[in-house]
Amino acid sequence: MGERFEPRIVVFACNWCSYAGIDLAGVSRIKYPHNVRIVKVMCSGRVHPEMVLKALVDGADGVLITGCHPGDCHYISGNYKTMRRYLLLRKLLRQLGLEERVRLEWISASEGDRWAKVATDFVEHIRRLGPLRLKEVMSAE
Ligand code: FES
Repeated sequence: MGERFEPRIVVFACNWCSYAGIDLAGVSRIKYPHNVRIVKVMCSGRVHPEMVLKALVDGADGVLITGCHPGDCHYISGNYKTMRRYLLLRKLLRQLGLEERVRLEWISASEGDRWAKVATDFVEHIRRLGPLRLKEVMSAE
């Protein structure tokens, strides 16, 4: 029997809401998958599409962008910028066949349980898709 595929997931988490929510899950001992690698950013609006593509090229099987709920961004409108960028990014990802590997989620500082659910769902979703291996493909060319 083959080994179970363990996806590598890069999570961009804004400092003020999502990272705090992830931290809350940790201190509350709410279990979430070990597959996630958290990259703290000051705001989800800081996540340039190039950062997402680089994560995929560098070996991530999936990327999760997280931020404050609309209306709650510490920088007022950062997450509205995130939404606009995400819609454009999805168009590009669709052309590359990578649309299903990137997701945007809102997680507040009090939503440790929601974080655990989002992370678990996304890891299982990527597990079903299988490994991306974009890095191997890119280096073979
Ligand atoms: Fe959280 Fe802007 S500070 S999305």
